[in-house]
Amino acid sequence: MTLKLSVIGCGYLGATHAACMSSLGFEVVGIDTDPHKVELLSRGELPFYEPGLDTLLAAEMKTGRLSFTTDFAAVADADVHFICVGTPQSKDGLAADLTYVKSSVAAIAPFLKDGSLVVGKSTVPVGTAQGLRDQLAETAPQADLAWNPEFLREGFAVEDTLTPNRLVVGVANDRAEEILKEVYEPVIALGTPWIRADLPTAELVKVAANSFLATKISFINAMAEVCEAAGGDVTVLAKAIGYDPRIGSRFLQAGIGFGGGCLPKDIRAFMARAQELGADQALEFLREIDNINLRARQRVIDVVRADLSEDLTQYKIAVLGATFKPDSDDVRDSPALDIAAQLQAAGAQVVVHDPKGIEPARKRFPNLDYAEKVVDAVKGADAILHLTEWKEYRELDPSVIGQLVKQKFLIDGRNMLDRNLWRNAGWRVHALGRTD
Ligand code: UGA
Repeated sequence: MTLKLSVIGCGYLGATHAACMSSLGFEVVGIDTDPHKVELLSRGELPFYEPGLDTLLAAEMKTGRLSFTTDFAAVADADVHFICVGTPQSKDGLAADLTYVKSSVAAIAPFLKDGSLVVGKSTVPVGTAQGLRDQLAETAPQADLAWNPEFLREGFAVEDTLTPNRLVVGVANDRAEEILKEVYEPVIALGTPWIRADLPTAELVKVAANSFLATKISFINAMAEVCEAAGGDVTVLAKAIGYDPRIGSRFLQAGIGFGGGCLPKDIRAFMARAQELGADQALEFLREIDNINLRARQRVIDVVRADLSEDLTQYKIAVLGATFKPDSDDVRDSPALDIAAQLQAAGAQVVVHDPKGIEPARKRFPNLDYAEKVVDAVKGADAILHLTEWKEYRELDPSVIGQLVKQKFLIDGRNMLDRNLWRNAGWRVHALGRTD
């Protein structure tokens, strides 16, 4: 008999997982405590922007295999329960807030049937899974718990779920592994590497991967700082070192650094957990990774001040991009918005444009000005800051934009625009980490 699945938490991770598992042929119920989210998803509509997921969700809703509810009792029918709730940074420190993970496991415990498997996918501090397994041993001894970290990237969520580059399962026994193999059978059949680990290693794989990615980005941004000081060009440097397969060229895009709901909070939570474990020295370097990352934002502000004036009160600045990366409407810890807000706090008049992120940005920073069109954002601007590399910005015509602005001054915070094109149209261009 085919397994029935439940997915607890229907944000980016959960909604994607639910729709993708349904597309593999499983009956799936998604549960979320937010009635608005559940209502939208039940209509086949996404509460956020994710390319390809909207059509997949709508198609899966039509099959009758996929449903959403706020009622935890709906898990009673399912055999495997994926925990996909958020683990944000705590309000009072660096550690992850585990409230939602703990409360969702507690909420499903009374409904778990004999032999069912709870599978954590959320990013958690090492040791959490064992704690939850112990909790279940008391409240629902008929069920077991495994950990199956998720590596999906926003913007590629469907692709990363259905064709991941690996599957990692943390299990305490063979039976849990067998159940997970049954769930992922179609994905395994594609040749996807399968890694069985113990619970702590599975939890660590996730934070180690994100720490490595954050380190790569901050490494290249540190090189950008040195290039600026020494008269070099970080984009050429990145290209040159990237040809070494031991280094690799991906995630060496210098600019204003990483943001989003994962990398920044994951490295901080990892440091906090290492301290609890007495291994804080091992992760001391992550503090520097965080510092380099935040310094990249400050460097943009320094360039604006150095070029325009220390006192920005008379200047208008157009910010292109609000989301933490393109092809997403996620503005959590967005470097672009942080820079926009800091410039506004320094007295500048700041207008922000983004193809998808204006509404979420407005909710976080209601006092910033927003423009629906690039031409409106740049009108009368003394500087244009390219801070999120949406494709639409690479297609802008610098001559047309040049007729709208007060000063032809561009800062490319992502090193993605064609500098020569803009310079030939009469613009002063500053790209991070490039001195010429
Ligand atoms: C990240 C990881 O890449 C996923 O593998 C992981 O599953 C996910 O976090 C998570 O923990 O859930 P995501 O947050 O979607 O995925 O974004 P990334 O594509 O990793 O980008 C993160 C940030 O780094 C963005 O702000 C991006 O602009 C920046 N970045 C990325 C750079 O500044 N330079 C680069 O070369 C690459």
